[in-house]
Parts: sequence; C-alpha cells; structure tokens
Amino acid sequence: MKCIIYVSKALDDGNDKTIPKGLSTIFRQARKKNKELGVTSVLSYRQGYYIQAIEGEANAVDALFASIINDERHQRVTTILDTQTEQPFFPEWSMKLVESVSRIAEFRSLIEHHPNEVSQLPDNKKKLLRLFFNHKATENEFLGSYQGRNLSLHAWPDFTLIKQSPTIIELCAQLTNQSHSYEDLVNSRKFGTAGQINKILDNFDKQGILVNASTAPEPNKREEQKPESAGFYAKMRNFLGLSVKNEL
Ligand SMILES: Cc1cc2nc3c(=O)[nH]c(=O)nc-3n(C[C@H](O)[C@H](O)[C@H](O)COP(=O)(O)O)c2cc1C
Repeated sequence: MKCIIYVSKALDDGNDKTIPKGLSTIFRQARKKNKELGVTSVLSYRQGYYIQAIEGEANAVDALFASIINDERHQRVTTILDTQTEQPFFPEWSMKLVESVSRIAEFRSLIEHHPNEVSQLPDNKKKLLRLFFNHKATENEFLGSYQGRNLSLHAWPDFTLIKQSPTIIELCAQLTNQSHSYEDLVNSRKFGTAGQINKILDNFDKQGILVNASTAPEPNKREEQKPESAGFYAKMRNFLGLSVKNEL
C-alpha cells in the first residue's frame, strides 16, 4: 500500500483566508473517483495552500497523483512523503475535508509513523509542513445570536465534528468566498430552516471559524488567544526544527 502527502499552492483567489472557490467541485469529483479507485484521502487548506494525503494500491495512487500534479486549479505541487505503509491510516475516507490536519488523529499517526522521513525533509518542505502544524483553536464569539450579523468563515470546519453533506460544503464555500447576512442565508432556503442553519452556525462558532464580518479581529490575533497543546505539537516542532515562538 502506497501513501503520498503533498502540499500545493491554491490558485490565488484574492484572499488567503478563504477556501478556494472551486473546492466544492473538486470535493465532489474526488470523492466519486477515489471510491472507484479504492483510494482514501484527507485534504485540508490553509493560508493559500492545500495539503493532501492519498493512500491506496500503488498503481492507483500513482495514476491519481499524476493527474493531481497536472491539475490547473493548483500549482507547485511538492511531495512531502512518498512511502509504503502496511495498512491504510484512514480506510473509511474516500475524500475527507478537515479544517486542520494537526487535529486529526489519523493524520498525526501517519506523520508519527514516519519520523525519519519527516525530520530529514529539506528546509523548504519543512516550511510548507509548518503551515499546517501551527494551528490553534479560537474563542467562541456568537453564543447563538446571529440576527442582523454579516457572517463569513475564515477557515474550513473540522468535518469530523460536523456532517460532511453537500449542503454544508456549499454553505462553507459561500461563507468563505464572501460574507452573507444571516437573513439572506435563511431567506435563500438553500440551507434548510432557520433552526437547521442555527445548528450549523453553532457548530462553526464552536470550532472558532465563524466571523462577524464587520467586527472580526484578524485571524492571527484570534489564534494567539489559546496556547497550543504539548505532546504531538512538541514532537512536530522538534521534527520541523521549530523554535518556541513559531514563525514561518
Ligand atoms: C487540491 C486538489 C486535490 C485533488 N484531489 C483529488 C482526489 O483526491 N481525487 C481525485 O479523483 N481528484 C482529485 N483532484 C482532481 C484531479 O486533479 C483531477 O481533476 C480528477 O481526478 C479528474 O481527473 P480525470 O479527468 O483524469 O478523471 C484534486 C484536485 C486538486 C486541485
């Protein structure tokens, strides 16, 4: 069984903090094709960069990776890990979108099983990986009151904590692309009843990714509010040669 992790630069869509516009299309196509190929995958996006892990039979992974490398929706595809594994690390996920790979036990386990490869990465690759292992939780700010607010998302939700349905993906795509008033979301009737929308927004808020577009502080300032946990992060810092104050 083969496993590849790569990082790539998403095409510039004008705002580093938003999810690239075409992501919901990539997600739908990839989920279908990965199922057919028997390939499993985790994909995340942060500050203009994708990270993806793909695992499966070598021929299928190689063929898929060749087509991903040539995909014009991203560029500078850089392989971080290209290795054989005994068994899959995420056998259930044909295509899983996650807010932060560093919070996903399966992804962490994949990295932890390859300490030598990771610690021997050249500096440019370490720098790319650091982008995804330097992520901290943010504070809640809405407490369920959405009326009259202009809402957006500054990152993807962690889809292990919320149902990964086409409706939710579409809502994420809209809210990361631009802000929408709560009333417009409800009136569009595309995302369910007000009660259903509130539940989804509550979940986004709990994850610290929902932004009140007019008053939100910069994401970096929000990220400084909580210390990152030790353990895995400490190990990653070590692997990646990060100092205590993580800077790219
Ligand atoms: C960041 C990124 C990740 C992608 N991940 C996958 C994937 O996991 N599976 C997949 O089938 N296509 C994925 N694609 C799309 C492929 O590059 C390609 O468009 C798709 O496999 C269809 O190829 P085909 O027309 O040769 O069948 C991804 C594209 C991008 C930009």
